[in-house]
Amino acid sequence: MQSRLELPSLMVIFGGTGDLTHRKLMPSLYNLFYQNLLPDSFAIVSVGRRDFNDEEYRNQVRESVERYTRFKVEEAVWEKMREKIYYIRFNFDDDSGYDSLKAMLENLDKRYNTLGNRLYYLAVSPEYFEVIVNKLDRHAMALNESSIRRIVIEKPFGKDLESAEYLNERITRVFKEENTYRIDHYLGKEMIQNIMVMRFANSVFEHLWNNKYIDNIQISSTETVGVENRGGYYETSGALKDMIQNHMLQLLALTAMEPPINLDTESIRDEKVKVLRSLQPVTGEFVKENMVRGQYGRGEIGIHQVNAYREDERVSPESDVETFVAMKLYIENYRWAGVPFYIRSGKRMANKTTEIVIQFKSLPKILYTKDEDLLPNLLVIKVQPKEGVMFQFNTKRPGTGNDIIPVQMDFCQNCMAENNSPEAYERLIHDFIKGDTTLFTRWDEVDFSWRYVEEILRIWREEETDLRSYPSGSWGPEEAHRLLEKEGRKWWLV
Ligand code: BG6
Repeated sequence: MQSRLELPSLMVIFGGTGDLTHRKLMPSLYNLFYQNLLPDSFAIVSVGRRDFNDEEYRNQVRESVERYTRFKVEEAVWEKMREKIYYIRFNFDDDSGYDSLKAMLENLDKRYNTLGNRLYYLAVSPEYFEVIVNKLDRHAMALNESSIRRIVIEKPFGKDLESAEYLNERITRVFKEENTYRIDHYLGKEMIQNIMVMRFANSVFEHLWNNKYIDNIQISSTETVGVENRGGYYETSGALKDMIQNHMLQLLALTAMEPPINLDTESIRDEKVKVLRSLQPVTGEFVKENMVRGQYGRGEIGIHQVNAYREDERVSPESDVETFVAMKLYIENYRWAGVPFYIRSGKRMANKTTEIVIQFKSLPKILYTKDEDLLPNLLVIKVQPKEGVMFQFNTKRPGTGNDIIPVQMDFCQNCMAENNSPEAYERLIHDFIKGDTTLFTRWDEVDFSWRYVEEILRIWREEETDLRSYPSGSWGPEEAHRLLEKEGRKWWLV
């Protein structure tokens, strides 16, 4: 159970009028107010570039909360939150704005007894990360001997290794590593946190979690949406940087890591980093044989005809940016030697789903499997939209014959009446205030992921790797299916 937080603090959200703040941060803060988890001495200051007074801004927040909260809006709770929200307008590079903000925060400190503690949340586009950090430093708002100063950096953390290193250097000059919270919102998802519990709190799974019993592991995250209004950003990113470098490699690390020596933040992160360090090296041959890059064309999503990626108004008509990546890789350590990991992520696919499928090895074809292949045992960790765990096994079809049929034990976490899983951001904001960095990425994780992905990008560039087209609403390019079919496997969709 989450505990009530105690740190008296002011949360300062840069990008207070942005989409992230309205859709995720404010509704999550409301949910925390609703559950009475926030500290008594607490207030929120939003910084934006648009002109609003506190009341106007609060009214907008109220609308967003009504739209996105998972709890009902109760007047008493909203009132408690409303009166603690403040708004200040300035451009992020404007020094006088920081002077005003500083004075405002010092006043609020007196009012709320928040002791100078600051929780900065940079919900802004990446070009402002460095600007804001530098200004906070210059205006003596970042460090303070007697109070706590922490910062959340939203994604993307850099657009390549060099820019990530640069950004990291700028941030850690001002904020210590333990006060720097690099968000990967996938780590805040319920079932992602459940991976470790599933593995290390159940003897039945962990004993089988290795190359002796597992045939392959599939990690998929597919979306039905296209790039929406983010075509400009996406043109500089593509699926590899947007999803694989962060979310997918994090899922891989959690699925494949060794048991940490304890549940301390650094012990867990140490084990995740070891997985990233054991990834099979990327070579030209690896990329050619094991990777598929695709881009969505026109097609149908449900009953709607949708345009191709290249038809998006913010996208070049000749763009060769990938909206889909599938790959096979090995983790070169004792536990996983010889077990292929298949990773797939794409936009405008047939379904929105994130899941991890563990396929167990088949039994020798001696008894029941003599004449026909039985379906393998599968353990599926369903991350979204359905949350739960499914186990598939074979059983006898009731009756006089000897037919064998696969059945599924399906634990649906978000179907339970009392279950109303928190939004990832709710958990992450809670941990941020609590001072727990476990569900945020440490610099060396980011560093390794960028190195890995950059090598792939270099090869794609130099070897002009083919871009495969796939219709919107499909399961991606044919080549992604062949990646598995040529080895007698297939993508599971359960
Ligand atoms: C973001 C990506 O990090 O994750 C988006 O930038 C993507 O392109 C999103 O749509 C997916 O998140 P979720 O939680 O909807 O799976």
